[in-house]
Amino acid sequence: MKKRVFSGVQPSGDLHIGNYLGALKNWARIQYDYESIFCIVDLHAVTVFQEPAQLLAKIRETAALFIAAGIDPRHSTIIAQSSIPAHAELAWMLTCVTPFGWLGRMTQFKAKAAAQETVGDGIFQYPVLMAADILLYQAAVVPVGEDQSQHLELTRDVAQRFNSLYGETFVMPETSLPSVGARIMGLDDPDVKMSKSAKGANHAVNLLDPPDRIRKTIMRATTDSNPAVNFPALGPGVANLLNIYQAFSGASDEEMHARFEGMRYGDLKKQVAEMVVAQLEPLQRRYAEITSDPGYVAGILREGAERVSPIANSTVELVKRRMGLYVEP
Ligand code: TRP
Repeated sequence: MKKRVFSGVQPSGDLHIGNYLGALKNWARIQYDYESIFCIVDLHAVTVFQEPAQLLAKIRETAALFIAAGIDPRHSTIIAQSSIPAHAELAWMLTCVTPFGWLGRMTQFKAKAAAQETVGDGIFQYPVLMAADILLYQAAVVPVGEDQSQHLELTRDVAQRFNSLYGETFVMPETSLPSVGARIMGLDDPDVKMSKSAKGANHAVNLLDPPDRIRKTIMRATTDSNPAVNFPALGPGVANLLNIYQAFSGASDEEMHARFEGMRYGDLKKQVAEMVVAQLEPLQRRYAEITSDPGYVAGILREGAERVSPIANSTVELVKRRMGLYVEP
């Protein structure tokens, strides 16, 4: 039997090339090696306020982008988290076995709490809901970026604690993630990871940006005071541009050196921009096709929920039995 893989993306902003190169492209590549579930984690998104109409539109857009990026809905299951009540149900049960000291130590919680005027309890509980997502399907493999590894550790700790309190219930998800995806940094600030929530107009290239917008953003990318590419001493901005080119093109290190060593930054940016435009063109074309049928995405999400609900419900029932909660006799 194939191992199960589970991963998720928040529908909280525009998906960008960092999401594509760091996650979606990798998911599409590995999907057939596993029984794959890819989730739009809308319950996580509402841990900070989201404009309701916009959120709903983003959920649909994200699902369509999963497919446009190569996730095959005939093989892999695509779900909206809130369409399966068991996610929230299991999260509550896991909350009750999670010491709050563990959650207070989460670096992402500390960063997010510092940035909000009012800190909703959901921000604190965020990692428990993520643990529920994973443990609900007894997923063995969870491909995520390095920034999520503390949450995965917590998932394992919570599973272990539940198992020791109530008996063997959860499969331990693998900690280490086959994260072969590239880590793409902000174009305006190459010291921070490219993020959906960053505000700057030139921070990210979004997957649905038109070609002219893509060119503008890349031409304005932050580099450094050197005039040209010097591989022995790359600044972070230039390294990031090269990384983007390499991840999209699949060029080897040798090819990268041969092509770019000594190239002036203006010319480097032009080449990166044309590579990105060319690579996103087919994805954008598929996106337009997918969304031209207004019922298609809704159908995929409905089918996804129908396919995995029995697994989710049987985990919740098992957990209820283990804990002594009420189950129909
Ligand atoms: N926290 C993840 C992120 O922001 C998203 C996520 C939620 C997730 N639930 C998950 C990822 C379960 C993997 C598995 O990137």
